[in-house]
Amino acid sequence: MTTTRLLNNQHIELVLYRKTLLEYRIMKNFKPKAWLLPQPVVIIGTYDADGTPNAMNAAWAGQWDMNEIMISLGSHATTENLNRCPDFTVSFATVETMVSADYVGIVSGKKVKDKIEKAGWKSTKGENVEAPVFSCFPMTMECRIKEKLFESETGFYLIGEIVNIVCDETYLAEDGKPDVEKMNIISFDPIHNGYIALGKRVGNAFHDGTALK
Ligand SMILES: Cc1cc2nc3c(=O)[nH]c(=O)nc-3n(C[C@H](O)[C@H](O)[C@H](O)COP(=O)(O)O)c2cc1C
Repeated sequence: MTTTRLLNNQHIELVLYRKTLLEYRIMKNFKPKAWLLPQPVVIIGTYDADGTPNAMNAAWAGQWDMNEIMISLGSHATTENLNRCPDFTVSFATVETMVSADYVGIVSGKKVKDKIEKAGWKSTKGENVEAPVFSCFPMTMECRIKEKLFESETGFYLIGEIVNIVCDETYLAEDGKPDVEKMNIISFDPIHNGYIALGKRVGNAFHDGTALK
């Protein structure tokens, strides 16, 4: 009888200990950083003064309003191009274009005139904007600057109107709309300066949460 009670007591103690261990999490603090996740890898296409196509890589970009996007722009050849002409294109870098997408993000058209040739990209002029559409990307937005915010010699935040979207038909879903899963799009990891491939669809937005209603 006594032994049984002792065994029972030991068993109870063990369960409590395990429960405490499972619930214990160590949380580390970090100073504020540009770590909003996930970050896109957008390719901004513009024309130089002589009509040569140029492109740069940008991670600080996002949806601003229904038909508008925002991009935080430093002082680049792209910025000069946009000060001359408000039109630009936005494409989304992929696993297949990762190396060249990084290249256009570390080399400036100010110094390397044949930057796009070196990237190995081909382009045609957008049908709706004075900006290049690069054929290596599944989907491209044709955009026009609507507003520049906090403009200075170090750049500006641009609000761009989405004028049109073109998608290579290879990347369309059965319903005729672009299929993100087919595109092999990459995301920028600002914590370890990496590029991460988007994974598989895991659920249905505005729907799966109803299971908990
Ligand atoms: C991963 C990555 C993200 C970047 N994000 C931005 C950004 O959000 N805004 C920006 O102004 N520059 C950004 N850059 C830097 C520009 O892409 C880079 O300065 C580029 O060479 C400018 O080209 P350009 O002078 O030919 O226009 C990024 C570069 C990389 C590699």
